[in-house]
Amino acid sequence: MIKATTPAKINLIFEVGELAQNGYHPVNSLYLELDLREEIVIKEGVDGVVISVDGDLPARHLNAVPKDSSNLIYKVALALCSKLGVELPAINVDLYKRIPVAGGMAGGSADAAAMLVAFNTYLHENLGTELLTNEELKDLAATLGSDIPFLIDGGLAIGVGRGEQLTSLAPLPFETFWVICVSNEGLSTPVVFGRFDELFDVEPFSDFEALEISSIDDLALVMANDLEEAAISLLPSIESSKAKLEDLGALKAMVSGSGPSVIGLFRSLEEAELARVSINNSGGFALVASASYAGTRLEN
Ligand code: C5P
Repeated sequence: MIKATTPAKINLIFEVGELAQNGYHPVNSLYLELDLREEIVIKEGVDGVVISVDGDLPARHLNAVPKDSSNLIYKVALALCSKLGVELPAINVDLYKRIPVAGGMAGGSADAAAMLVAFNTYLHENLGTELLTNEELKDLAATLGSDIPFLIDGGLAIGVGRGEQLTSLAPLPFETFWVICVSNEGLSTPVVFGRFDELFDVEPFSDFEALEISSIDDLALVMANDLEEAAISLLPSIESSKAKLEDLGALKAMVSGSGPSVIGLFRSLEEAELARVSINNSGGFALVASASYAGTRLEN
C-alpha cells in the first residue's frame, strides 16, 4: 500500500494573455498552496484500475468525480507506465477528497499530482521500475494539466507559460487564513477562458518578483484575477459570495482561478471560522484553509 497527499492551490494574482495557437492562454500566475489536502491510497488490485471516492464534501462533489478512464488518476497511471515501459498493473485507488470539485482550486489536478507521486513509488516497489525525480514527474505532469506541476512542490511560486513553468518563492512572511465560499454550480475552465477572450483586451504582465508583499495588508492590495469578471458574467451569484465574505470581514474576496469558488483573506483563524459558520448557517457552503508549504508527499 502506498499513500500520498497533495494540497489545493489558489492564484493570489492571475494574469491572462491572448489565446495562443496551441489552444492555451499564456498566464502569469502567483500560486499559493492551501492545506486542504487530498489523499490517495494505491493497493494491489484484481482487474484494471478501480477508483473509489470518499471525502469531506457534499455528495454533489463526490458524485461528480468520474471513476472511469476519464479520471486524471487513470490518465496518470497510463502515462507513467508508458514512460517507464511497463504494463499497467491491476490496482485499487482510494481517493479521499477535501478540495471542491470544479471550483477553481485544482481538485482534479491535485488528485493527478498525488497519483504521480504515489504511483511512481508503487511501480518502483512492485515492478522494480526506475524512481523518477520530482523534476521528471513535473515534466510528465505538464502533459496532463497546467496546474499539476505546481502541486508537486507547492508552496508559493510564479507560474508562466500555461502555468507549468515555475519559479519557487520564499514563503510569505506572515500567516494567511482563507474562507473558501463554494458555489452550488461548477464552472468549466475552457468556458471561462473563452468568455475572457470575448470580453477583454489583454494587458502586459507584471513582474511578481519585484512585488513587496511583507504584510497581509500588502497581499490584500495586490490580489487580482483577470478571469474574475468572465466567471461572474457566467455565474452572477459569485458577486453575492464576494460581498458576503467582505461583509464578514475579509480583507479581500476574489474568485479563485477560473472559479466559481470565492476566496476571502482573513487575519486570524478565529475570524475565518466565524465567517465560515455564518455562511454555512445561512445555507451556503464554506471551508477554512491556511497557506502551507508542503507540496505533494508520501505518507506512512
Ligand atoms: O491544462 P488544463 O487541462 O487545466 O486546461 C483545461 C483547459 O483550459 C484547456 O484545454 C484550455 O482550453 C484552457 N486553458 C487555457 N489556458 C491555460 C490553461 C487552461 O486556455 N493557461
